[in-house]
Amino acid sequence: MSAATTPGTSDPQPPAFTGPTFAVVSGAQVRAVLAGREREVTDLVEATYRLHGAGETVNPPSYFLRFPDRPSSRIIALPASLGGPAAVDGVKWISSFPENVAAGIPRASAVLILNDHVTGYPFACLESSVISATRTAASAALAAEVLGRGRVRPRRVGFFGVGLIARYIHTFLVGTGWEFDEVGVFDLVAESAEGFRGYLERSGSGSVRVHGSAESLIRGSDLVVFATVASSPHVGEVSWFGHGPLVLHVSLRDLAPEVLLSATNVGDDVEHCLKADTSPHLVEKLTGGREFLAGTLDDVLSGRVVMPGEGTVVFSPFGLGVLDLAVGGFVYGEVARSGKLQVVEDFFDEMRRYG
Ligand SMILES: NC(=O)c1ccc[n+]([C@@H]2O[C@H](COP(=O)([O-])OP(=O)(O)OC[C@H]3O[C@@H](n4cnc5c(N)ncnc54)[C@H](O)[C@@H]3O)[C@@H](O)[C@H]2O)c1
Repeated sequence: MSAATTPGTSDPQPPAFTGPTFAVVSGAQVRAVLAGREREVTDLVEATYRLHGAGETVNPPSYFLRFPDRPSSRIIALPASLGGPAAVDGVKWISSFPENVAAGIPRASAVLILNDHVTGYPFACLESSVISATRTAASAALAAEVLGRGRVRPRRVGFFGVGLIARYIHTFLVGTGWEFDEVGVFDLVAESAEGFRGYLERSGSGSVRVHGSAESLIRGSDLVVFATVASSPHVGEVSWFGHGPLVLHVSLRDLAPEVLLSATNVGDDVEHCLKADTSPHLVEKLTGGREFLAGTLDDVLSGRVVMPGEGTVVFSPFGLGVLDLAVGGFVYGEVARSGKLQVVEDFFDEMRRYG
């Protein structure tokens, strides 16, 4: 901001403080900022995991709002605080209503509120289903890269459950340099499998194979991405993983404890991923311990944990609110720089202590 000059003097004066502002950032603006920036966003997510690992974040447990009359639905609050060079606080408020899909609208919808690190004032509300899908996909692409180092690079990727998240993960894998000989698809709903196949063909992804069974997809893939909405394990046959694939267990509740116990397990945050009846949480309940968890992605990034060169590896990311803050803060900064922030005039209206 340039310094103002008081009339009649030549001394530069600080600009008059006009008070806090509040902006609304639309989904179209979010998408426009993030399109084609897969490498940049993945690097941002990596930096955020490192900050989190270094203790420069606050990321309390997510709060799950559930409804007795609508048991399949939920709304989750993810409050968080991000330190470091782009410090910001805030909360993501994200709904999951699986029945939406049959009604023709996405399952998840979300907003992200950003709060100023100094005053605490909320200064932006961003459409956040895209931010959430983007940070999830960037985290998955980062995990594939980091956990796959030192192994034969997977050439066959298989998507198990193919909604919006699977599409974003595919975009991020390709956008960060992955090339595949074959892309496998499996979904309980034939329409979804066909829809995803159409997307893959339009995006020029080479050979696409729609599998007729879970077993066929897993046995036929060296990199397996789970993005279903299963609420309890439905894959428990350890022999299907005999070829030792790298598994991105993004939907968290697909794999039975036996599968995790036969693999090297990595999470995003130990406390977080051992909650809410995720598959790792079920293993902890079954075994009474956490030894099955090799560590976090940050442990691997910083060399504290070394991955084996072969065998099944399962990444189970709970999904950290600090990632939403990092990506949301980035989007806000870019929209502000472009001069296209939609500020809500007089949002904060009672600003004088005594009127
Ligand atoms: N870990 C994270 O950080 C994170 C972040 C965002 C979303 N997610 C999770 O990703 C998952 C996918 O989200 P989405 O928005 O793409 O959902 P979506 O509803 O758009 O798609 C899910 C797909 O999975 C299919 N499916 C459901 N159960 C299946 C099964 N047993 N076998 C095969 N296919 C099955 C459905 O038919 C559907 O096509 C959700 O579970 C969501 O909670 C995780």
